[in-house]
Formats: sequence, C-alpha cells, structure tokens
Amino acid sequence: MKRRDFLKLSAAAALTGMAAACGAAPSASASFAPAASSAASTPASSAASSAAASSGAGTGRTLVACYSATGHTAAVAGYIADATGADLFLLQPVDPYTDEELDYNDSGSRVSQEHADPSLQTVELEAVTPEGWADYDTVFVGCPIWWGRAGWPVNGFVTGNDFSGKRVIPFCTSASSGLGSSAENLAQLAGSGDWQEGMRFSASASESDVAEWLAGLAL
Ligand SMILES: Cc1cc2nc3c(=O)[nH]c(=O)nc-3n(C[C@H](O)[C@H](O)[C@H](O)COP(=O)(O)O)c2cc1C
Repeated sequence: MKRRDFLKLSAAAALTGMAAACGAAPSASASFAPAASSAASTPASSAASSAAASSGAGTGRTLVACYSATGHTAAVAGYIADATGADLFLLQPVDPYTDEELDYNDSGSRVSQEHADPSLQTVELEAVTPEGWADYDTVFVGCPIWWGRAGWPVNGFVTGNDFSGKRVIPFCTSASSGLGSSAENLAQLAGSGDWQEGMRFSASASESDVAEWLAGLAL
C-alpha cells in the first residue's frame, strides 16, 4: 500500500498504525470525532466561517485535536483521549509528508524548504472542523515541535476554528526542545479561546507521563 493511501485511511486506523510504527501502544478505547461534512477537504478559510457560525456554549465535551507526522504526538493524544473520555480528531494534510519530505537534514526536502520560506507553510488539511464543534468546552491541541516551534500543519486547525468560550490546552512532543513560545504563538494565531499553559512531552512519553500531567489539571 502506498504511504499516501495509508494516510487516507480512517483516523482510527491511522492512529493505530502510527502508534505501532513508533513503538507506542495504540489507543485502546478513544472514540473518534468525525469531520464536519461541510469542512472536509475545504481550505481553512471557508471552514472558519461555518465553525464561527456554529460556535456557542458547549455541553461539557472534550476534544483532542492533533497533528502528528510520525506518530509520537498521536500516541500522546490517544492517551489523553483514553484518560479523559475525549473524542480524537487527527489532522491529516491533503498532501501528507513522506519520510524523505520530513528529512530536516536535507536542505532541499519539503520540510526544510517550508521552514526556510514561511509562505510555504500553509498546509491544507483533509478536514479542519470536527462534527459537533460547538459542543466541545475543552480542546486539547497537539503537534510536534519543528525547529523549536509548533509544527505548522496544525495551523490550519487553529486558524480555521472559532475557540470562543472554549478552554484550550496545547501539548507537543519533541526530541529535546521545550514548548518555548509555541503555545503563545498558536493562541495568537487562533485569536480566540482561553488558552492554558501548554505541556511538552518527550517523543517517547508514556501513558503514565500523560496521566500524571492530566492529574494536575483542573479538568
Ligand atoms: C522537521 C522536523 C523538525 C524537528 N525539529 C525539532 C526541534 O527543533 N527540536 C526537537 O527537540 N525535536 C525536533 N524534531 C523532532 C520531533 O519534534 C519529535 O520527533 C516529535 O516527537 C515528532 O512528533 P510526531 O511523531 O508526532 O510527528 C523535529 C522533527 C522534524 C520532522
């Protein structure tokens, strides 16, 4: 199966596959938030207006939205969803990154070129808004750290939704870098929502690392 086909499988299959690929235990019981049909395969800008139109007081539900290129952040997202009973929404680029495209040691790779030229960092997502967006009071937003900042494929989700009235909890995984100003940058990009202090996990974070963090949050 081609990598592109693989990444177009359902979010559940994608998470299981990615978690397995990186040696993490796949999420056992996380449920998955389907994309709002009007937002699927549409650019962030058009999804934003439909999301804004449907925003409002939530009904106490929690969402874990996550971009993960190689599965580490997706594993953490799965742990959060399992522990909190949240729905999981995996962000998938329309044009997924291949291993070669993710090679940051190659100055000619896709990711290196995007890093060098921010005008290339708009990554269209298969879906920007999950069904029932208005019902979520709490939204975890996860991504890997790329060059010391939030990996930009998550940006389409952040800019494409209205976070008004929602508590937003950012998290990331990285090899060694801290969260730095990534969370503040995402909050600024979003322009709405009550953004909380974020958390950085190592790429090999365990379920108990995540549980320990969650225990300290007033959820
Ligand atoms: C393009 C790229 C840039 C990266 N930049 C950093 C970095 O600046 N600091 C760091 O600690 N790790 C960096 N990493 C490592 C990732 O942050 C780390 O492997 C992360 O857990 C990957 O998450 P994912 O599997 O969800 O994509 C980078 C990885 C890639 C592919």
